[in-house]
Formats: sequence, structure tokens, C-alpha cells
Amino acid sequence: MIRSVIRGTGHYLPARVVPNSEFAKTLDTSDDWIISRSGIERRHFAAEGEFTSDLAIRAARAALENAGVSAQEIDAVIVATSTPDFTFPAVATQVQAGLGITKGFAFDIQAVCAGFVFALANATGLIAAGQASRILVIGAETFSRIMDWTDRTTCVLFGDGAGALVLEAQTGTGANTDPGVLACDLNSDGQYRELLYVDGGVSRTGQAGVLRMQGREVFRHAVEKLAATANAALDKAGLSADQVDWVVPHQANLRIIRGTAQKLGIPMERVVVTVQDHGNTSAASIPLALSVADAEGRFKPGDLVLTEAIGGGLSWGAVLLRW
Ligand code: UT7
Repeated sequence: MIRSVIRGTGHYLPARVVPNSEFAKTLDTSDDWIISRSGIERRHFAAEGEFTSDLAIRAARAALENAGVSAQEIDAVIVATSTPDFTFPAVATQVQAGLGITKGFAFDIQAVCAGFVFALANATGLIAAGQASRILVIGAETFSRIMDWTDRTTCVLFGDGAGALVLEAQTGTGANTDPGVLACDLNSDGQYRELLYVDGGVSRTGQAGVLRMQGREVFRHAVEKLAATANAALDKAGLSADQVDWVVPHQANLRIIRGTAQKLGIPMERVVVTVQDHGNTSAASIPLALSVADAEGRFKPGDLVLTEAIGGGLSWGAVLLRW
């Protein structure tokens, strides 16, 4: 059977690093509050004139180099983002152009913080269906462009960045010992829109809008739904949580990451945590964390890696893969 195997990873973070202390200058907040409630110490913000597609192209180039694959060998580009450069065309087409690719296809996926998990699952489906054999799967965001800088409950939490994977069709046996994606579990429930949304958009206001979140309520859903989707993916693959070598969770809040790991019975030594350095980069957070951990040499061939995310929609899901 055809498996989708990660051939390489890469990431890009904008140069400007913003420590928590910056926010305390203009808002009633503190480094202590931000660290103790979220685990975030700093985040990167894109420069003026630096856009989501620029971040995505830099991450994609790094992933191609890491994979030893040329841009011309890519037949599809998928970008998970909620902060596109333009309403259309898709950021993915700008990445294609930026890399000099003129064949194949490119499109964006919008499932907010769960976007990368949705993109990886969709790329896996396209590969299984024989529609593509090498796909650049990217998460790229400039959430600094949709912040309300007067709202201390949201603006201290988010950051900008991009992460990318080269996903490649390889022949597997069908056993759960194969390298590559073993199982995906995707979920959405639109009745929860009010918990996390952007208060503008093309059809409603003609403006981009800013992020609004009922953090405590999202938190309440997060741990439960993340553990459930992770277990669903494990069940589909005939595996259990104690067999997981690495969890690469969406990086929104250290307390959510810890709570979910605890619910799964997985010790924190097996969880990749980058939230302290990146903040919440929405769809970019998992590929960023995967790429950082890969660059550190943490993953060994055969390791079982579990990714899980939840965000606006609500939308949530998990992808289980073998390195
Ligand atoms: O990636 C998409 C998914 N998003 C998430 O997963 C985010 C989920 N939610 C969270 O991460 C947490 O709920 C937050 C980090 C957003 C907030 O942490 P919390 O422990 O749930 O705090 P809270 O919202 O219950 O607020 C506690 C207090 C409040 O004051 P009162 O009402 O108790 O007087 C807030 O007004 O902290 C106050 N507060 C702040 N204080 C200082 C809220 N934001 C700040 C701030 N600095 N930046």
C-alpha cells in the first residue's frame, strides 16, 4: 500500500523577537502572568512588508533542502493558514511561484489552529489516491496582523512563523510498523464559533477583523477533545498511548499540553514543547515544533509520533505517524 512518509522538515521564524515584558509597557499584564498562565516567554513578529507567503517560502526552502528534494520534484503545495496575504489567490500558489514551480496544484486549508493536522490528513489522502507523489505541506501564519492590541486576554498569546514538511509517497506493507502516516482523526463542531473567531471577513464586514476568544471556555474543551482525538487516531492504527515515542502538540498553552499528556498517560519527557519561544502560531505551531525537534535530532527512525491540535471552529484532530 502507499504510505505518506515525511522526507524532510524546515521552518522559518521572523527576526523580531518580542519578550513578554514588551506588553507590560502598554497593558495591565506581566511576564509572571503570561508565563504562569500560558508558558509563553517570547514570540516572533513579522516585519512590516513581510507576509505569510514570505514565511511559508522560507520554511518550504528549508524543508526541501533538508529532504534533498528539488522544487521541481514537488507536485502539490498545501498551505494551512488563517492569515493569507490576500483574500485570494491561495498563499500556496504564491509559494509555488516563489519556488519556481509551474506544474501540479496548490491550495490553502483553513481550519485555524487545527489547520496543519487537517492539511497533513488531506495530503495523505491525495497521496493514497495517487493524485500526487510529493507534497509540500506547510503551516504559515502572521497572527500579529489580526490582534486587538488593547485586549490583554488575547494579544499576549500569539506569534508569527512557518513550518513545512516534504511528504512523499512510499510503498508500505500496511502494517503499523510502516514509516509514514498511520492514522488521521478529524473533527469540527460549528456550534462553538463564538468561543474563538475573528470579528471581520470578506462577506460580513469587508475588513480583516481581529481575533476574539473566550479563553477559559476554549481551555475547557481543549484537554478533553485533544485526548479523545489522539486516542481515536491511536485506535485506528491499532496502537496505544504507551507506545507513543513523541507527542508534538499544538503549542497554545503549556497547561493544555501538560493536561492532555497527563490524560493520555504520556510523560512530559516525550512531549515536544516550543510554546515558550514561539507563542501560539496557530497552523504553523506543529510543523514548527516538528522541524525544531527534528533539527535537534530528537526523532529516530521507527519512532511513533503523535500530533494533535484544536482551534477555531471548533476544529480539532490528530495525525499519528511513524518517523
Ligand atoms: O490555539 C487555539 C486554541 N486556544 C487556546 O487553546 C487557548 C485556550 N485558553 C488559554 O490558553 C487560557 O484560557 C488563557 C491563557 C487564555 C487564559 O488563562 P486562564 O487561566 O483561563 O485565565 P482566565 O481567562 O480565567 O483569566 C484569569 C484572570 C482574569 O481576571 P479575573 O476575571 O479573574 O479578575 C483575567 O481578566 O486573568 C486576567 N487576565 C490577565 N491578567 C494579566 C487575562 N489576561 C491577562 C493578562 N495579564 N494578559
